[in-house]
Amino acid sequence: MKILAIDTSCDDSCAAIVDTTTWKLLGNQVITHAQKMEAWGGIVPEIASREHLKALPIAVRQCLEEAGLRLGEIDHFAVSHRPGLIGALLVGVTYAKSLAFALGKGFSVHDHLQGHLFSPLLTEFEGGKAPAFPWFALIVSGGHTELFEVKSITDFHWLGGTLDDAAGEAFDKVGKILGLSYPAGPEIDRWVKASATHADRARFDFPRSKPESGYFSFSGLKTSVANTFAKMKAPSDQDRLSVAASAQEAILDPLVERLLRAQRKQPGHQLVVTGGVACNSRLREKLPNAYFPAPRYCSDNAAMVANVAALLQRERKLEIAPWTTTPFAHTEY
Ligand code: KG4
Ligand code: ZN
Repeated sequence: MKILAIDTSCDDSCAAIVDTTTWKLLGNQVITHAQKMEAWGGIVPEIASREHLKALPIAVRQCLEEAGLRLGEIDHFAVSHRPGLIGALLVGVTYAKSLAFALGKGFSVHDHLQGHLFSPLLTEFEGGKAPAFPWFALIVSGGHTELFEVKSITDFHWLGGTLDDAAGEAFDKVGKILGLSYPAGPEIDRWVKASATHADRARFDFPRSKPESGYFSFSGLKTSVANTFAKMKAPSDQDRLSVAASAQEAILDPLVERLLRAQRKQPGHQLVVTGGVACNSRLREKLPNAYFPAPRYCSDNAAMVANVAALLQRERKLEIAPWTTTPFAHTEY
């Protein structure tokens, strides 16, 4: 069976195709709209929806070309329907539903976070070996900071998350205070890696949420960074770098401590980290024994959605969604 998956939950228009007979990823296209959001310093939901309208058909066409397939050769359409920006999700769900309806094919809806959770299994499409269950899996992105216990593709539960901002959002807001462009996470990572010393990382002791609380919080950190920076008269590049390096430590330390704390209690569980922030080189350095998917599978993509649909189909648990299906901005886990 050939599954075409779509993801438009945030500001990337994503399409991917998997073949469940050969277990190959045939196409994977991401058209990002992050640059369009630069002028606003963050995502504007209405602009994201309009960009998806233009870019999603292009992403789907490019994906079919990459796979060497015609639309009529697709057997099933899968799409993320929650959680995310409601207008953005609506574009993807309506597009996938319309293709399936017009072509008389199956249509299924999937949880975007389930996609991120099982992205380590994407390595199997490339002949690689995924970590064995059970896992403690942390999803850290621009919209999420969520810890799950994962036992199988259908058996996973939420252990805790952020009470306010997401980790990626904290990176982006710190970057905005420092005058960096959106999204600032990758730039802070590169900048600190290229030039920071231990002294830079330890110069400011920004507040960190306590891992024993079971939750994360980044809004106090953001205020503290803003106050510290405002007090600096004519900050030098070195001052800005020290703020970025110290803030990066304060964002990452609670994530690392929470994961290690969970693993100390259940040492048989492997650690998995995914989502855009999982691309961070300092986080990878702090967790040498954790499994991080390849960066292209950490940030938003539709291969992870196609993967979930394929895994469910393999277990005969892929459910065809009704034509009345609508997206949901939020999800209770
Ligand atoms: O998963 P993602 O592509 O999209 C969603 O938010 O769903 O994650 C994007 C987030 C942004 O906040 C971005 O700044 C952050 O991930 N990010 C990083 C890095 N690469 C992306 N944060 C820190 N270090 C990075 N290398
Ligand atoms: Zn995501």
